Amino acid sequence: MSLIYNIGLLVGIQPEGVLRVDGPAQGRTGVLENAWLRIEDGRIAGFGEMERCPIGVGHDNVIPGHDDPSVIPGSDRESLDAQGGMLMPGFCDSHTHVVYAGSRDGEFLDKINGLSYEEIAARGGGILNSADLLHRTSEEELYRQSMARVQEMMDKGTVALEIKSGYGLNKADELKMLRVIRRIRETVPAAVKSTFLGAHAVGRGYTHEAYVQAVIDMLPEAEKWADFVDVFCDEGFFTVQDTERILRATSLTPKIHANELAVSGGVQVGVRMGALSVDHLERTTDAEISALKGSQTMPTMLPGSSFFLGLPYGRAKDFLKAGLGVALASDYNPGSSPCGDMRFVMAQGCIKMRLTPVEAFNAVSLNSAYAMGLSKEYGSITVGKRAALILTKPGWDLTKLAYQYQTPFIRQIFL
Ligand code: NIG
Ligand code: FE
Repeated sequence: MSLIYNIGLLVGIQPEGVLRVDGPAQGRTGVLENAWLRIEDGRIAGFGEMERCPIGVGHDNVIPGHDDPSVIPGSDRESLDAQGGMLMPGFCDSHTHVVYAGSRDGEFLDKINGLSYEEIAARGGGILNSADLLHRTSEEELYRQSMARVQEMMDKGTVALEIKSGYGLNKADELKMLRVIRRIRETVPAAVKSTFLGAHAVGRGYTHEAYVQAVIDMLPEAEKWADFVDVFCDEGFFTVQDTERILRATSLTPKIHANELAVSGGVQVGVRMGALSVDHLERTTDAEISALKGSQTMPTMLPGSSFFLGLPYGRAKDFLKAGLGVALASDYNPGSSPCGDMRFVMAQGCIKMRLTPVEAFNAVSLNSAYAMGLSKEYGSITVGKRAALILTKPGWDLTKLAYQYQTPFIRQIFL
């Protein structure tokens, strides 16, 4: 067991059983100043104020402790002086495409010169470009490149992430991706969820119709590897009808790419089909907000792709006003968001979407954990949850985290 003491600020405290926060509750989080937290078997075993710190030698839950530093060295347990740093749940990233081959920096100039995401895709760039690269890359090499990205994310404080397939676009290559995701899950200390996104773009050599059928035919095998199913339900990609057909053919829970490029109907079909989340939402009207009300579906916004593609930012504030919760995720991928930095995502939530630091923090922790089915285990400071935590250097709080968004803040990550 270990004990972290002299925590300046313990943030993200939630009672047991709170699996997501919605509306006004997203603007609140439990906080303790001057606190300790105990970890046992990798889980949060207790926390409290320093006045009642259990730093006893040989016995539990006694001892004034903090004004007698001699009890800490030589005690029978590991302990760490947080030196006034903030202790928070690690970031949860419910939407990524980090398994991909190479890069698309070749398209970066086209983008700078004014071509849109759709125009680049129409020229055979975009997702198909990544699929060609992935096809030519060995499984081992794909694993190596993807692991480097996951390591980069963990170094920045991500403790749980979802990864999608979708750069295979034929059965063999989609399964290659799903195996790589499984291998990453088995290697890293972070929690990993896997999503089958066969319907990311129409694979080369298929007509649209034939490819939708091919995706349906991949489902029985994909179900052995994936936790969720996703469809890029958007203009120029897959229709509401395609989406519904694919979702009806599987028992996997949907997470849907919706309303990035157009008001696509993706939100409504996602809600109707019981999606755990509908993601992107750069283009939404009040009809999408109404459709989400009363559902279990978590609206998830990806400010990194708004930033990179110059799209509108999601109307997070309007969703909160309507009583809904909002999650934020990185969308880390080579075409629309080549960045997996969840602290930057949180800052964009504040700067570009006018979320308060607490609202943005809940969006990148508890609500994002919910959006990948992990909020029983991750996303808040709650006894019994995984001790997947970030300890900051002294002097940090949630506001400073988003405000001073590039200053290194991490002292130690517990995973
Ligand atoms: O979430 N929008 C669809 N899929 C990804 C982009 C994938 C790519 O361009 O490689 C996204 O933005
Ligand atoms: Fe995406």
